[in-house]
This record gives sequence, structure tokens and C-alpha cells, in this order.
Amino acid sequence: MTMVDIRARGVEYAGSRLLGAPVTQLTRTMAHMEGVFADAAAWRSRGPDEVLYTVDTYAPVTAGTEGGLLFGITHIHPGAVGDEFFLTKGHLHTIGNRAEFYWGIAGHGHLVLRSAGGEAWVEVVSPGSLHYIPGHTAHRLVNSGSTILDVGACWPADSGHQYGILESGGFGIRILRGPSGPRVTQE
Ligand SMILES: [Fe+2]
Repeated sequence: MTMVDIRARGVEYAGSRLLGAPVTQLTRTMAHMEGVFADAAAWRSRGPDEVLYTVDTYAPVTAGTEGGLLFGITHIHPGAVGDEFFLTKGHLHTIGNRAEFYWGIAGHGHLVLRSAGGEAWVEVVSPGSLHYIPGHTAHRLVNSGSTILDVGACWPADSGHQYGILESGGFGIRILRGPSGPRVTQE
């Protein structure tokens, strides 16, 4: 009888956290968010080290590897700059045709999307919601709830990130704090 090769995975997906030695964490603070929020004066009045979100990433292959997949969970804190809820910078993929899955784990928010043709729309993110992001579609998460927003993601390892959407006019949609809940506004 031959021995079966049982391998340790080294990474665990525990609730909303990714645990294990191969997991890396990226932190985005106010200092990283120049030009993102509509109210620039409100953004400038905030401490540069205030954390908006962190991303836990598991890279079983090196970023850039064709055919590989990367896996992450984004944790966006609750809060707002002026009336605008905390959000991710938002990006397109450097290899434009690369698609991605997002799914809601905890908290409530919105996924803002914008196609190459300029069509913008939102999807409501809640625990169990699944979101297919087609290629050539810019994407950004907004925590429009009052608790932390945890969102899972799986994307091709060679997709890359580019943030030019911010210089070219942004998404055209902003999610603002209103008297009776989030307001989705078009610019
Ligand atoms: Fe992406």
C-alpha cells in the first residue's frame, strides 16, 4: 500500500478573518485617499493615520502569475468623511479583461461599478450576497452600514490593479449618509 500525501494548507478561512503564515495584510489610511472623497476639506481635516480599511490576502502563487488565483478579505471600518461613507479607492485591472468575484461576509454596504462604456451602477452588499465583476469594469466597496464591512474576493493572479479611474472622473456615483439611511447619488 502506498502512503497518501496529506498536505497542510497553512491558511484558514475563519469567519471573516484569513489566518495563517502565508496571509499578508495591507492597510489604507486617510493619507492614501487623496482625491477620493468629494469633500476635500473634510478629508484634509482628518488625521492622516486614521485607518479606513485593511485587506488580508492569501497569494498561493506570486502576483502576476498567469493562470493562478489570489484570495482576499477586505475589512472596511464604519464612518464617513463629510457625508460620504468610508470606501475603498476602487480600481480597474491592469489586464483589463480579468473578472473577479466578491461576496458579502458581515456588515452592510454597496459595491459601485462602472463599465468601460461609462455605465455606472450599484449592488447591495450583505452577508451571503455574491457579486460577479466582469472584466473592464471598475469596482469599489462602500461601507454604508454602522458596523465593519467584511467582503471576500477571488481574482486572477495576473489581473493587477490600476487606479486611473480616480483621475478620469471617478465612478459617477457616491453613497452619502442621509437622514433616513444611505443615499445613492449620481454626479
Ligand atoms: Fe479587483
